[in-house]
Amino acid sequence: MSQIQVCQSSDLSEGGIGYRFRVLYNGEETTAFAVRVDNDVRCFLNRCSHVPVELDWNYGEFLDDSGRIIVCATHGASYDATDGNCLGGPCSGNPLVRLAIEEKDGAVYWTPSEQITVPADGIED
Ligand code: FES
Repeated sequence: MSQIQVCQSSDLSEGGIGYRFRVLYNGEETTAFAVRVDNDVRCFLNRCSHVPVELDWNYGEFLDDSGRIIVCATHGASYDATDGNCLGGPCSGNPLVRLAIEEKDGAVYWTPSEQITVPADGIED
């Protein structure tokens, strides 16, 4: 499948605010987000593995003060922001769903999959 440009590289600062965008997950409308951690872009479905709700505390705020841990706003499950693995709390060992992401030429690109696809009216959130 062809790549979709999500945002500019400059939209993501190390350990900073995440960039949200819209996706279809198994045909259901939801969102995903990209964050920069260890100077690499990481991208996940915006859906806690405990209860399928969005993770951010405020719009785009996913990371704790360390800039390396994603903490769910609802019950505090914590995930390693480099790979989405559950670190503790109600996620009970279940990771976040990762999206295929690539940074090149100053921009960030997502490759949709069979499971995670582009909404008919675009990805802008
Ligand atoms: S919904 Fe995320 S910890 Fe419960």
